[in-house]
Formats: sequence, C-alpha cells, structure tokens
Amino acid sequence: MSVSTILVVNGEEKRVIFRYADILLDVLRYQLGLTGAKPGCLNGDCGACTVNINGVSQKSCLTLAVEAIGKDILTIEGLNDPIQGAFVDQFAFQCGYCTPGFIMNCHSLLEHRKDPSNHEIKKWLESNICRCTGYLEIEEAVKSALHLSKKHK
Ligand code: FES
Ligand code: FES
Repeated sequence: MSVSTILVVNGEEKRVIFRYADILLDVLRYQLGLTGAKPGCLNGDCGACTVNINGVSQKSCLTLAVEAIGKDILTIEGLNDPIQGAFVDQFAFQCGYCTPGFIMNCHSLLEHRKDPSNHEIKKWLESNICRCTGYLEIEEAVKSALHLSKKHK
C-alpha cells in the first residue's frame, strides 16, 4: 500500500508517493532527485545519508519517509552555512562521498553548541565515517566555521 502526501524539503512542499516501508533516503534521492544524501552502509553506521529533520541531524537510511510527514527536512542542497566553505578551505574531503553527511552533522553541532570543546566536536562527529580523509581536517573545518561565526557576531 502506498501513501500520496506532501513533504516539506528545503522549505518547499513536494508531492511524493511512497510505500509505508520506504526510507526517507530513497524518497529524497529517487523521487525528488536530491542525491546529496548518500547511501553508504544503510544500517546507521556511516552517516553518509545524514539530513536534518526539525533541526536535528538524522540518518535518512534509518528514517521512514512516513515519519517525516509534517516536519521540516533540510538536505545539503538547501543548506547555506559557513561550514561548507570551511570544508573547502581546510581540505576536509578527498572523494567527497561522506562530505554531505558530515556537513549536515557539523551544521547541527554548530546550531546546538555555540562553543563546543575539542572533545565535544570529536564525540559529535563519531556518528559519521570517512574512509579516505583524515578526521583532523574535518575537526579543523568545524573550528574554523566556529571562529568565523564568532567574528560575525
Ligand atoms: S547509509 Fe545511513 S548511516 Fe550509513
Ligand atoms: S572523503 Fe572519501 S569517504 Fe570521506
């Protein structure tokens, strides 16, 4: 059985049709063409599929599309955050497959913690896995985005 409904994605209402068992990741990618969230492990370990729902980072491979009805879904395609430039400046990626998920999770960190310690940054990023770059560059990107946001206050 399928459901025809509206999802609010990146501030826009989108009509979608999916089965109750469909995961949000598949609906975003294959119905809406939003391919920034990536399929990695598909079991909650890697974070490549991370999006934000109502301001909280969530793994879209573990989220049923039906659970996202009536909520604000933000994907990398709709994000405008200094963390994106910081990833570029700090060379915080190589192949880039994990990058959208990391950036969405870093965005969530910066929204929830105005002055995270190095330990908090490390712990927060534990939900994402990168198979090719060093994690140091990613942590540096978070610190540099924090520095930028403090400068602009
Ligand atoms: S694909 Fe969702 S956590 Fe790996
Ligand atoms: S940059 Fe390649 S997996 Fe992270």
